[in-house]
Amino acid sequence: MTTAVPRSAPAVLPGPNDACWCGSGTKYKKCHRGADAVEARKKGPEVARKGIRPGVISPRRDVPMNIPRPDYALTGRPQRRSSDSEIRSPDVIARMRRACKAAAEVLQEVASHVRPGITTDELDAITHEAYIRRGGYPSTLNYHGFPKSLCTSVNEVICHGIPDNRALEDGDIVNLDITIFLDGVHGDCSATYFVGNVDEESQRLVKVTRECLDVGIAAVKPGRPISDIGRAIEAHATQNGVSVVRAYCGHGIGETFHTSLQIPHYYEPDADTIMEPGMIFTVEPMINLGGWGHRTWDDGWTAVTADGSRSAQFEHTLLVTEQGADILTVA
Ligand code: MF3
Ligand code: CO
Ligand code: CO
Repeated sequence: MTTAVPRSAPAVLPGPNDACWCGSGTKYKKCHRGADAVEARKKGPEVARKGIRPGVISPRRDVPMNIPRPDYALTGRPQRRSSDSEIRSPDVIARMRRACKAAAEVLQEVASHVRPGITTDELDAITHEAYIRRGGYPSTLNYHGFPKSLCTSVNEVICHGIPDNRALEDGDIVNLDITIFLDGVHGDCSATYFVGNVDEESQRLVKVTRECLDVGIAAVKPGRPISDIGRAIEAHATQNGVSVVRAYCGHGIGETFHTSLQIPHYYEPDADTIMEPGMIFTVEPMINLGGWGHRTWDDGWTAVTADGSRSAQFEHTLLVTEQGADILTVA
């Protein structure tokens, strides 16, 4: 099998010292960079705008020893819990209410600091302190080795963006994904925010993504299969000409951050688990202006859209009740 060599510049351009996209084996800056810049200039500022690049990640933040930690805090590897039922006991549900409320409060607090000029690392520091003030541990810290207390996903970053020294810019959109480990359970929520003045297309993306979460939540009904949720979300996204990310799903949550229960945000007929009162899971659609494809940066975490289009996300943790969904991540 031969590898096809692209004949025109891809949506996401190489760094100056990376190999050129044309396959010449020469550094991009010595090859097509000049020509691409001229072409981009002809097409106008939209195309010339360059994507998010990895910044510098600050040293790991400490958590005081008196704060109870999840099992993976030291090793990075969560312990396998094999036959974990997805129905939560009244005790776990009561603790989930507290953890989820705390997560929603932290999200509000951190979001109030979003403005042009603040770095995502500064947002991480604020989040980290907010968890600790509540007696909670930052669930993401060392989870499978994740280095920070918060995920910050800017513009074309779909999810799992690592806070770094990049300052937010006027016109950016940023998802803040908060997870706190409190009272032995995890509460997980996220929302996408505008940084200063944002273009209309991005405003529409964020509005439709919020609606996708809402229609997903409305599809939560005991006795119905999990696939109803993704079917509702995908229909709403399709009607609005945007796409649903397929690589990342919602998940069961409780004493474990991510249980084996997956919640696809697109229609997946095999997601045939029947929703039952007492189940707790997240719904967290990631919606792209362009195609649903993604790639992952060399850091092993940051997921970006394959075509460089913007992506937004909203997330709640939900309890299934006789009536439908009880949203736990409310302040
Ligand atoms: N909070 C994310 C979720 O919604 C998970 C982040 S895991 C991390 O499931 F390791 F990337 F931080
Ligand atoms: Co989350
Ligand atoms: Co989640």
